Amino acid sequence: MDQAQQLRNIIKNENTPQRPLARVITVTSGKGGVGKSNVAINLAIQFRKMGQRVIILDADFGLANIEIMFGTVPKHNLSDLIYQGKNIKDVITWGPMDVGFISGGSGISGMYNLSRDYLVYIIVNLAELDAIADTIIIDTGAGISNAVMEFLVASGEIILVTTPEPTSITDSYSLLKALNQYPRFSKDNTVIKVVSNKVTTDEEGQQLFNKLNAVVARYQKLPLTYLGAIPQDQYLARSVMQQTPVSIQYPNARSTKAFESIAGALSGKGAVEIKPRGMAAFFSHIITGRKLSSTTAGGSNQTASANNT
Ligand SMILES: Nc1ncnc2c1ncn2[C@@H]1O[C@H](COP(=O)(O)OP(=O)(O)O)[C@@H](O)[C@H]1O
Ligand SMILES: [Mg+2]
Repeated sequence: MDQAQQLRNIIKNENTPQRPLARVITVTSGKGGVGKSNVAINLAIQFRKMGQRVIILDADFGLANIEIMFGTVPKHNLSDLIYQGKNIKDVITWGPMDVGFISGGSGISGMYNLSRDYLVYIIVNLAELDAIADTIIIDTGAGISNAVMEFLVASGEIILVTTPEPTSITDSYSLLKALNQYPRFSKDNTVIKVVSNKVTTDEEGQQLFNKLNAVVARYQKLPLTYLGAIPQDQYLARSVMQQTPVSIQYPNARSTKAFESIAGALSGKGAVEIKPRGMAAFFSHIITGRKLSSTTAGGSNQTASANNT
């Protein structure tokens, strides 16, 4: 069977019980340095504690955050799958508590320039992650680049990290506005969940959400869900310096408790349910959007136009 056929089968089978499908959660933000990588890593640890198998895909081009925060040097990254013929299992590095991570390297931005055959090859490989992981967390870069937009458009479930800084709120708004205008974005098939990070009190977190939600509901007609707040916590900052996730290093820290509660909100009974779609469906978007991407997106790091409100 050729790979294109294999991909068609993978996509066609996505709703049948024979193939397991991972839940794919994309973590993003309007502004850098607001805590995305910490959210990705600590939610991964909390999910592991609940018995889930978790893999993080580090898609923040060039910054290689996850490996630094895990204090682990990966032998391979996604580029090696693309250019060295490595298998998907070879490019997974196992971090603390057996959280797997895949360093995107330049592999992800490179994906947009690959031929269709090559893309199919990669997607068929990535689809194998569905059998290895229950949840896949994608840590994206910040801001309105087309590369980030492509990830968000493909995501059923987005976690938007924001902080009380005025620039973080306006950048969150700009990101949602750009997403809402992006070709192939489907409001009805996407749930956007907000985390307020670096807050002083829980009330501040809730108010921050209310403010963002009000303006997004009014001007973008996009529904947002509130996941909860993470306090500004010196133990979190310290854990970053120590290259071990705060959820492991400081189990009683206030931020660890907040991650526990957010992971609970994502998994509990009251959670907004999304049917897992798996990795193949996620990346097939790139192929489906091929024409559009080559005319409107082009390269991977161009900035889409986003005027303010
Ligand atoms: N809740 C928090 N309390 C204290 N410091 C934080 C908190 N969240 C993030 N930080 C600090 O901000 C820095 C950037 O966080 P990071 O997760 O790398 O952000 P991003 O991935 O969005 O760029 C961290 O190294 C840490 O020092
Ligand atoms: Mg980061």
